[in-house]
Amino acid sequence: MTLADPSTGRLSVRLREGTRLDHDAAQGSGFLDALVAGKLPREAYADLAAQHWFIYETLEQAAAVMAGDPVAGAFVLPELTRLPALRDDLATLLGARPRLGALPATREYRARLRAVAFEHPWAFIAHHYTRYLGDLSGGQYLGPAIAEAYGLTGAGHRFFVFEGVSPPAFRARYRELLDGLAFSPADEQNFLAEVGEAYRLNIAVLRELKERWA
Ligand code: HEM
Repeated sequence: MTLADPSTGRLSVRLREGTRLDHDAAQGSGFLDALVAGKLPREAYADLAAQHWFIYETLEQAAAVMAGDPVAGAFVLPELTRLPALRDDLATLLGARPRLGALPATREYRARLRAVAFEHPWAFIAHHYTRYLGDLSGGQYLGPAIAEAYGLTGAGHRFFVFEGVSPPAFRARYRELLDGLAFSPADEQNFLAEVGEAYRLNIAVLRELKERWA
């Protein structure tokens, strides 16, 4: 078998293949599996929602800035916006109790978003892809599984539910958007490296959550 030339072919395919190990590491970090198995207290799930809130707050601020960008603007889709759902989930999970604070890894994630995702389309799209395509892939299994494990009926897991979106059709459309990108070779390198960085940041958050709760 010959390996495909990494510089040719559809970006969406090269991206998925090039980040398979990163994804395996994210999937294998243990915290999400422990939630799905109902092994952790409900507060651990609330903490995940809180960390998501901090991350999406900054990511969706970047989206507002990037909406007018000729390249990144195509990825800014209102049906993806997660912040209202997260606010709702946190109200259900924590009620009037004070919000859980951002973990050090979450603060680092936000700092990275602020440093690159408000300015460079390749960086914004890298972070957008890692979160939203993940939410619309594995997240579609995680959401119902976590809801069942913690007895959440109707509320508390809106984050995983994208109203009016068919995940398979959306994923296909998203990959077309990725394949239509005309990055310079340098920007494509930056993009692929930034997806790796986004995975690293997500893994660090999950690791700190595991340390806190497992
Ligand atoms: C227990 C945890 C997880 C499970 C079970 C899971 C499962 C999956 C599955 C089944 C897919 C679809 C693969 C395919 O279509 O070939 C997928 C895709 C994806 N996941 Fe995960 N995942 C998990 C965690 C994560 C995490 C923590 C992230 C990053 C924040 C992530 C990001 C992604 C991305 C970006 C994709 C799209 C890959 C592509 O098609 O380009 N996943 N995941």
